[in-house]
Amino acid sequence: MAEQRGFTLWFTGLSGAGKTTITNVLVKDLIQRGSRLEVLDGDVVRENLSKGLGFSKEDRDTNIRRIAFVANLLSRNGVPVITAAISPYRAIRDEARQMMDDRFIEVYAKASVEVCEERDTKGLYAKARSGEIKEFTGVSDPYEEPINPEITVETADQSPEESAQQILTYLEDHHFISKS
Ligand SMILES: Nc1ncnc2c1ncn2[C@@H]1O[C@H](COP(=O)(O)OP(=O)(O)O)[C@@H](O)[C@H]1O
Ligand SMILES: [Mg+2]
Repeated sequence: MAEQRGFTLWFTGLSGAGKTTITNVLVKDLIQRGSRLEVLDGDVVRENLSKGLGFSKEDRDTNIRRIAFVANLLSRNGVPVITAAISPYRAIRDEARQMMDDRFIEVYAKASVEVCEERDTKGLYAKARSGEIKEFTGVSDPYEEPINPEITVETADQSPEESAQQILTYLEDHHFISKS
């Protein structure tokens, strides 16, 4: 059986920055290349692995630590993983990085609050502004930008396909996947 190299593409970014959209493009591309991978999307994880957790700092940290734990289990056994959760706190992302060492690839889905709010794909910013949702990242809760992410995708200036291509090129250049 062909060996595949395990890695974790760790997305971070505001709600609406494009984490899920780019992940979906990447999954399609990677499967086409014969890769078997897993996705841990924040919204999905909160429905099962982290069901019942809220949005306090403590619960957010627990959620992200659980995602990192599973991502580590998979990636150390040769399974590529994409995580797509806001993961707002730098310290917890750095814990994940330490756990997975050179298998950890931080991808900053970068878009301003203004751009994400304009998109408001899920209507959450409107609810955050009206106060219906409390502790909303970027509005009433902190988001700590990555300082030195492996990859930054500027989603206000790129299409999801361009962002995905940028990430695939990184993976090829660093020998996580072979060139297509
Ligand atoms: N370059 C891009 N990458 C990702 N999404 C983009 C991009 N440009 C525009 N969009 C749009 O922005 C929205 C991002 O939403 P989503 O992927 O659900 O964000 P997140 O998962 O980060 O909360 C989608 O409506 C998508 O079509
Ligand atoms: Mg999402």
